[in-house]
Amino acid sequence: MEKFPLNTGANIPSLGFGTWQLHGEGCYQAVRWALETGYRHLDTARIYGNEEQVGRAVKDSGLKRADIFITTKLWPSDFWQPARALKASLARLGLDYVDLYLIHWPRWSAEVKLWRDLEELRHQGLAKAIGVSNFSQELLTKLIDSAATKPAVNQIELTPYHWDKPLTDFCQEQGIVVEAYSPLGRGNILKDPVLTRLANKYAKTPAQLLLRWNLQHTFVPLPKSGHQDRIKQNFDVFDFQIDPADMSLVDSL
Ligand code: A2P
Repeated sequence: MEKFPLNTGANIPSLGFGTWQLHGEGCYQAVRWALETGYRHLDTARIYGNEEQVGRAVKDSGLKRADIFITTKLWPSDFWQPARALKASLARLGLDYVDLYLIHWPRWSAEVKLWRDLEELRHQGLAKAIGVSNFSQELLTKLIDSAATKPAVNQIELTPYHWDKPLTDFCQEQGIVVEAYSPLGRGNILKDPVLTRLANKYAKTPAQLLLRWNLQHTFVPLPKSGHQDRIKQNFDVFDFQIDPADMSLVDSL
């Protein structure tokens, strides 16, 4: 799998497995399937309530910890105690560190002080990289102007239909990797006639076309599925290239 560079010097696998709305044994099984398929990047969050299952699947996979990139997130109700929240997430995951720790949602102006706390967690080695999620350009600018470390990542909802291009351009100019959550529009845009026509042209599915579109923009998509066939399908996106005219067509959606 391709990797994209982070501003920490580390690399991030270009496609991740999203786990929002996966719970219990279904989550455990889906993460096992994802790791068997070849995914080496898992995205969870305290608020998803599935860190334990994600961690158990990682452990049972027998893979080396260093070979898997794992993200979790800090929920706003824990903004006043980020060290305690991260340690609790690590305990549920059964890990010593996460590869990426994100502020899940912005809240008023608390972020500057909070960011210093996250920098400290990074210095302690509990998070190899720190970043944000759902941040606007305005909030990012405020953070960048006042912080020693730039966020490594901004994770946002992103599809060709739901695309804040000025924001993704800004992130990329700043060296902040854009991660796309709900990259399949939660399954609701897969019947789009343009996507269907193009998918046929490349002998791929609309889901694969959308994921490939992300990769070619250097966005990191985080598709979620609880089904093994779809988990495999969503990973089978590294053997084709969307040509520039078709990229523009998808952009225009
Ligand atoms: P399921 O979990 O039943 O497979 P997103 O990642 O944008 O949030 O989209 C997730 C939704 O899309 C889920 O409802 C998931 O259903 C569905 N989904 C995931 N992969 C595919 C695929 N390759 N084809 C069709 N639907 C998919």
